[in-house]
This record gives sequence, structure tokens and C-alpha cells, in this order.
Amino acid sequence: MTNSRLLQTEACRRLGVSLPIVGAPMGGVAGPELAAAVSSAGGLGMLGHANSDLAAVREEIRHVKDLIDKPFGVGLLFPTSDRTEPPGLVHEPPQDSPPERNPLPLFLRQFQAVQPAGVPAPSRSPRPRRVRPYSLEAAEQRLDIVIEENVPVLACGLGTPARVVKRAKAHGIQVIALVGSRRAAVEVEERGVDIVVAQGHEAGGHTGRTTTFVLVPQLVDALRIPVLAAGGISDGRQLAAALMLGASGVLLGTRLLATPEARTADSHKARVVEMREDDTVVSRCYTGKPSRVLRNAFTDAWKGHENEILPMPEQWEMVEPVVAPAKAAGSLTLANWPTGQGAVLVRSIAPAAEVVRQLAAEAAALISNGGSGGERSDREGARCSGS
Ligand SMILES: Cc1cc2nc3c(=O)[nH]c(=O)nc-3n(C[C@H](O)[C@H](O)[C@H](O)COP(=O)(O)O)c2cc1C
Repeated sequence: MTNSRLLQTEACRRLGVSLPIVGAPMGGVAGPELAAAVSSAGGLGMLGHANSDLAAVREEIRHVKDLIDKPFGVGLLFPTSDRTEPPGLVHEPPQDSPPERNPLPLFLRQFQAVQPAGVPAPSRSPRPRRVRPYSLEAAEQRLDIVIEENVPVLACGLGTPARVVKRAKAHGIQVIALVGSRRAAVEVEERGVDIVVAQGHEAGGHTGRTTTFVLVPQLVDALRIPVLAAGGISDGRQLAAALMLGASGVLLGTRLLATPEARTADSHKARVVEMREDDTVVSRCYTGKPSRVLRNAFTDAWKGHENEILPMPEQWEMVEPVVAPAKAAGSLTLANWPTGQGAVLVRSIAPAAEVVRQLAAEAAALISNGGSGGERSDREGARCSGS
């Protein structure tokens, strides 16, 4: 039985949870089942809505409420840090005419022609959507739903516009901002966010250059608000270490990929638990921003073509029609599979609630022993038994 009092932090108090463990708002992966499992174990579960349709955002929020009566959050991606102009119009074509597609570079045509067995050929003229999924306008529409549905916590990825913080705070929502640098952290604190996630270079998905072990204490020193550590954290030793660095808790992404509740392909989960240390790469090739993903033939094909990568969201709009069918079929060779370096510490698929409780139990044991015991050779105690 975990002595959860040992793990009570200011972040727990602000989020209304008993354990300082937050599930990452992984777009397309963190759905109602995963969010509910993390919250039901005492942490804070999150839905990830990076580019979802509005109907899906509302439906999933309601689904979580049906599953649990505990705090949870929704993560949205804001493609820019701030903007004084009206949202959604700047640098974007009028919404009634779809943005012009950028032609696929020649070296990528091979992927258009050759899809893995069983994968339908990508459409050459993808159906236009009225609002570009990664636009600030689309993200603000998702925020409208978060507000209407009284979701208690909002996590902002990529950017945290002042206007978004103001809107959320006006409705009593706790705002978490994910940042990868000291400069960004100080900026978002000034904008009024409640908690900052120090997301290190090890992290899966969009990531910065500074490693977790360097970023966390730096932000703890620079900020007055609580800091959560993220990037490479997969076990209880790392939770205890993060608390020792002054963090108020951790945010887990990759560790939660290897759970039955995560909505990712079985092939991806299998790869996570077999991961070797050079299996991920940071590339801008899928979205236009640096993102840590599984290394594959597609990421390799961009070597030497880095200067042809378009900014976000144009790069995503160009490559998505090529890689989306492969993703739907679970192909690891073409598609975008955000995955962090911490996968090398994940060796089994286990229910998310068990992962959360196990991390907490191990960290509490280490802390109550004054930190000793983390060096033992039998690491199985730190890992989940599997489902
Ligand atoms: C599969 C996957 C999808 C992600 N999607 C998002 C997202 O939509 N929005 C976001 O803010 N962060 C996203 N992230 C980053 C996480 O929020 C988090 O910062 C990161 O996973 C922490 O590092 P770790 O993967 O080493 O635990 C994603 C990460 C992964 C692994």
C-alpha cells in the first residue's frame, strides 16, 4: 500500500488529485479509457485532442465523465505562442476555399506508389476540411467545447497564447503549459498558467533541445509555479528523482503507450516494449516541427532534404495523405509514431492504473528509505507484471 502522503505536492493540490502523476495529452492516443484509468488510480488523466473534429472532442469529454467522477484534463495544440491578430485568419487562405496543396517532393513519390501490403493507396486529392485542423482557429473552437463542458484542466502544447490562458482562467480552468526551454517557461508563467511541464529532449512527440535532467531544476529555480517533469520518465526511480530535483510531479507519455487503454496500433505497443536506444529520431518531416518519432524508411528518406521541409501545418498537410493510410494499417515503416527514449525502460504492457500505482509505490518506498534501494539489480520490482 503506497504511502501517498509522501507524494503529496502543490501540483496535486492544484489539480485535485492524490498522486503527482499526469497522463500526457497524446493526440489520437489518449482517449477516454486511458484518461479514466490514470485518474481512477489517483493521477490526472488527459484526453489528447491535437487535431480532432469538434464532435469527437465533446463526445470523448462526455465519455470520460460517464466513466469517472474525478478530475481530468484535455490537451490541445496551439500552433503559435501568441498572436494579437484575430485567430485563424492570418497567413491562412479564406476558410471557404481550401488551402492549396503543396506538391509532394520527387523523392517522396516512391512512398505514394509503394504502400505496405493491405494498405489502400493514398488519395491524391484529400477531401478539404473547412477549418485547417492544426490552425489556431480550430484549436480555439476545441477550447470552446472544453469550456462548455466544464473540464477542470487544460494542457497547452506547442504554444500557450495569452488569450487562451485568459479565456480558460476566466472559467476557473487550471492551465498547464508544456515547454522545452527556460525562456518559454518564464513567458507562460507571466501569462498566468498554473503549472508548467518541463518537457525534455528525451520526450516522445514535439520536443526541444534541453534534456529533462537539466531543464527541470532550471525551471524549478526560475519559476514560482509548480513544475512537472516530462521526457523519458518510465519508472518510480525517475518519479522520485524528479521530486528530488524540485519537480511537483511527472507527466507520462511513452510509458502509457504500452497499456491496453492507449489507442495506438498493437505493432507500436510491441515496438515500445522491444525498443532499442537508437530506434527514435527527432525529425520535422511529419509535422514541420521537431518531433521525436520511431525511426523508419520515411524519416530516413528525408536525410539530405531537410531544407525542403515546410513549416507547420503545411508539412503535415503535404505528407499526411501519404502516411495516414499506413498509420491506419499499423505500418511502422511509413507512418508517424511519436515515441520517447524512455521506451527502453518499458518492457511490458500493463494496465494504465497499474502503471500509475506502481510508479507511485516505488517512488514512495525510495523516498521513505531516504533514497536508497534504487540501485538494486533486481529491477522487476520497479516494473509492472504485465496484463
Ligand atoms: C504518441 C504521442 C503523442 C503525443 N501527442 C501530443 C499532443 O497531441 N499534444 C501534446 O501537447 N503533447 C503530445 N505528446 C507529448 C507528450 O505530451 C509528453 O510531453 C511526452 O510524451 C513526454 O515524454 P515521454 O514520451 O518521454 O513520456 C505526445 C507524445 C507521444 C508519445
